[in-house]
Amino acid sequence: YDYDLLVVGSANADLVIGVERRPAAGETVLGSDLSVHPGGKGGNQAVAAARLGARTALLARVGDDGHGRLLLDAQRAAGVDTVGVLVGGAPTGVALITVDPSGDNSIVVSPGANGRLTPGDVRAAGSLFHASRVVSTQLEIPLETVVEVVRCLAPDSRFVLNPSPPLPLPPEVLAACDPLIVNEHEARVILGDALVSERPEDWARILLAKGPRSVVVTLGAEGALVASGAGVARVPSVKVEAVDTTGAGDAFTAALAWRLGTGDSLAEAAAYAARVGAAAVTKPGAQESYPTAAEAEAL
Ligand code: RIB
Ligand code: NA
Repeated sequence: YDYDLLVVGSANADLVIGVERRPAAGETVLGSDLSVHPGGKGGNQAVAAARLGARTALLARVGDDGHGRLLLDAQRAAGVDTVGVLVGGAPTGVALITVDPSGDNSIVVSPGANGRLTPGDVRAAGSLFHASRVVSTQLEIPLETVVEVVRCLAPDSRFVLNPSPPLPLPPEVLAACDPLIVNEHEARVILGDALVSERPEDWARILLAKGPRSVVVTLGAEGALVASGAGVARVPSVKVEAVDTTGAGDAFTAALAWRLGTGDSLAEAAAYAARVGAAAVTKPGAQESYPTAAEAEAL
């Protein structure tokens, strides 16, 4: 394989304002100075994996504009192969983000060019799929594009999905996931009427019964649950002081996807990923906060 990880997904310019509290409907609040960071769940995953040392490629679409150039520069600076990044068709995706004093964020995404990443674009990138050990995606690109990703997987490559923002998923996509990675909110949307229990261990089991080969449920400070045919196990969290949680889930997913490709078990990969995600919340922004392998190990 030429690549340890191929990320198919979104690239956004993150427009971030710090706030004391979020405005209610009809209200105006004053916030901090604006900062602009490279982001998007796909772009974040690619940078996170590359910083850890994974040979990484990104398949995405950005606009022919200043934000698009910022995002491409950030990918290249991190060592991501951007041969699969298409340019044009709509303005670059934008995420409007507020971060509060506890480090929690609220995000509104305008998909822009991400919404124009088509199944045809995926088919045209077939050689990238054959060159990649693990393929990972999220849901800031059209669902039909994710379906095409599943259809283009090489026979022995592994597929990892973080369904964020969440949608009910077709059986074909669920069956390909190894693992499906969800937080509590995403688990609730995907389980829908099947959410018959308040116990995360049950969510993991019920999600697994919907078809994925494995499932990871992230539980914030409570760590994560990993579920496969071998049963359900808990992976502890790493305690840190949260500064900005934006993109920490993307770093977790990327680290887990990469480690699985190196031969780690699901529990080993999730424990490593928990360290990477914890390191990411200790610094502002998404991509700029991602650790190197040495920084993740030092935690
Ligand atoms: O997961 C964090 C990301 O969500 C941000 O970088 C923002 O672009 C949104 O896509
Ligand atoms: Na961060």
